[in-house]
Amino acid sequence: MAILKIRRYSRSDGEWIQEFDIPDGDMTVLHAIQIAGEMDDTLAYTQGCRYRYCGLCSVMINDRPRPACLTRFTDSTLVEPLKNLDVIRDLVVDRGFILQFLSGLDFSVNELDLDEFKRLKIPDELFMISRCNDCLCCISTCNNYKGAHEPWRFVKLLNLHLNPFYHPGDIREEREILHRCEDCMKCYCVHGINLGKVIRMLSEIMR
Ligand code: SF4
Ligand code: SF4
Ligand code: FES
Repeated sequence: MAILKIRRYSRSDGEWIQEFDIPDGDMTVLHAIQIAGEMDDTLAYTQGCRYRYCGLCSVMINDRPRPACLTRFTDSTLVEPLKNLDVIRDLVVDRGFILQFLSGLDFSVNELDLDEFKRLKIPDELFMISRCNDCLCCISTCNNYKGAHEPWRFVKLLNLHLNPFYHPGDIREEREILHRCEDCMKCYCVHGINLGKVIRMLSEIMR
């Protein structure tokens, strides 16, 4: 047996750590969470693809943000909800801001004919940041978090500004958020996106 410790939370009962005896075997942390969920069906967690793509299984594992489906389970592992995000219940954090951010953006394509479309240059960096699967781990790597969903927000903003179909609106608020980060750059992406480069490029675009 190996012990899995999960920080649980509910609005009515507050926070507590629950321990689960997980049968021996080579498995991911997500698999161990699933076994715990079968032992106690009140345990709330999210998952989707079970291998890297959907970004839904991210949690704090021994104090580091990680995709649970890509992390090997070992004895005494402590699993907690992602840091810096609002916890809804147990390991489930509020991801509603992702849709809020996307709604209302202007991607209208005006009178762009096929020839113009063929001439459009897609910057290499757009391919780099398109690897972001909204796992939100980077938000939990920030030790100076200001509540604006940074640095995930920067990846999305750069993505928008490199997108030839995006029509930027008022960017004052974005500039303020970014300004706070220019001398820091301590956050990181668990999927290898260079967040320092993202912040530098975005600062340049918004100057
Ligand atoms: S930038 Fe990286 S860590 Fe952040 S949400 Fe995207 S894939 Fe996840
Ligand atoms: S640059 Fe620093 S303050 Fe800004 S998001 Fe990254 S770690 Fe947080
Ligand atoms: S379950 Fe989809 S990334 Fe882990």
